[in-house]
Amino acid sequence: ISDFGVKNEPVLQYLKGSKERKELEEALKKTAATTEEVPIVIGDKEFKTDDVRYQVCPHNHKKKLAKFYYANKDLLNKAIDTAVETQKKWDRTPIPDRLKIWEKAASLMANEYRQTLNAATMLGQAKTVIQAEIDSAAELIDFFRLNAYFLKEATKYQPISENPKVTKNSMRYRGIDGFIAAVSPFNFTAIGGNLAYTPALMGNAILWKPSDTALLSNWVIFKICREAGVPPGVVNFVPADGPVFGDTITASKYLAGINFTGSVPTFTRLWTQVGQNINKYINFPRLIGECGGKNYHFVHPSADVTTVVNGTIRSAFEFCGQKCSACSRMYVPESLWPKIKEGLLAERAKLKIGDPTDYESFTSAVIDDKAFKRIKGYIDHARNSPNLEIIGGGKCDDSTGYFIEPTIVVTKDPKDKIMVEEIFGPVLTIYVYKDSQLQETVELVGNSTQFALTGAVFAQDENWLKKAIEDLKMTAGNFYVNDKSTGSVVGQQPFGGARLSGTNDKAGGPHYVLRWGNPQAVKETF
Ligand code: ALA
Repeated sequence: ISDFGVKNEPVLQYLKGSKERKELEEALKKTAATTEEVPIVIGDKEFKTDDVRYQVCPHNHKKKLAKFYYANKDLLNKAIDTAVETQKKWDRTPIPDRLKIWEKAASLMANEYRQTLNAATMLGQAKTVIQAEIDSAAELIDFFRLNAYFLKEATKYQPISENPKVTKNSMRYRGIDGFIAAVSPFNFTAIGGNLAYTPALMGNAILWKPSDTALLSNWVIFKICREAGVPPGVVNFVPADGPVFGDTITASKYLAGINFTGSVPTFTRLWTQVGQNINKYINFPRLIGECGGKNYHFVHPSADVTTVVNGTIRSAFEFCGQKCSACSRMYVPESLWPKIKEGLLAERAKLKIGDPTDYESFTSAVIDDKAFKRIKGYIDHARNSPNLEIIGGGKCDDSTGYFIEPTIVVTKDPKDKIMVEEIFGPVLTIYVYKDSQLQETVELVGNSTQFALTGAVFAQDENWLKKAIEDLKMTAGNFYVNDKSTGSVVGQQPFGGARLSGTNDKAGGPHYVLRWGNPQAVKETF
């Protein structure tokens, strides 16, 4: 493959009259006009079951976007058998041939199907055009291109052979025998692509359980990859009930790994089941998980107010705070609070919330009824607690779609549950600290939650920054200085965090694809 991998896909702007805007309009019309039938796919066969489900548009929940089927236990076991058999052949496909398929898939995503992907993400996951373009175009394409590039670079390494005429040492980069289960979330279309296809690139075979609420966009990825030449059986598309899927994969001796993004309880459950079955497996299953966060913006008295305000509005409220990296707790010094408060309230009031296909919308609805109820629960808690005050937003309305206003809460208690638990919605809580208690407040950041995904500090005082970066070292896998906590780019800021945020295997980094390898060192003696 070419060395394109070191470049990121440009993000298109969709200005009035632009070619991409016209193409997107057509794709949106086409996607909205039907309810797409999405089958289960195992090997080269399609299946339907009696367990029928629908994906609806979050901003208009009467509109059914896709009809799909849950795979039952028998079908999941069939998918396991298919994947195990396919892996043996797929692993023999030379790496350069696999790289070519990934290059082709990236090119189909960037050209022929870019707007089909964006339309499915906008309507299915309620992303505005720019958020969809960042996710289901740029980031998805980057995952395919850069992981292919990283694999190509890594496999250039061969061990030392001191006298190659007598002994030759080499490394074979293989997949793991068995199958990998990919369990992907709704919030980034690109994450589904990465979780299922990066282990596949390394020579593994996959059971992909997409999120019910990202079904259509994930199905589009699957179809593109088949067209690009990913052979049948390498990735098997198996929407399923979570516990049925978990129970079935962890009961199979061929489980070689789980590639997961989702909640802490689900990952913990899978890990526990793997532990309980550990004597059954032919490999120790590799468990890679990204599980969420309670991400922070920490403001020092020397910070630039405009940078803080603009960064915080974007981080907390873009895509309704449903990015795993979104800021949901903020620490502001008393000395800057009047200006920051004024700025946040003024900017918040300008945000338009509406249809994701309206170019004026800043955000749209949250993903589903469950999310709506959970987020509303935190807003009700803020309304009813003497320690908390809602200073902006707070309205929730699910009559046509799951709409929740960007909401700003101020807390007197920095350890209130609203500052500790993951909300995954457009709720920002601020703790105003006394300037004289700067150091104690820095310590609070790490002490008050079990997560460590993203965090940002804002300051112009360089000496303080140096110390803060050290003090906050363990609080975030992705750490930002004078920038918002969201918006990591594949290959630029490899993404992931430790503690309860996950195994920090850094999606979009050079080592991620290698985590799915099963290399063999070969010594040949002549
Ligand atoms: N790449 C996403 C972000 O950093 C997760 O916002």
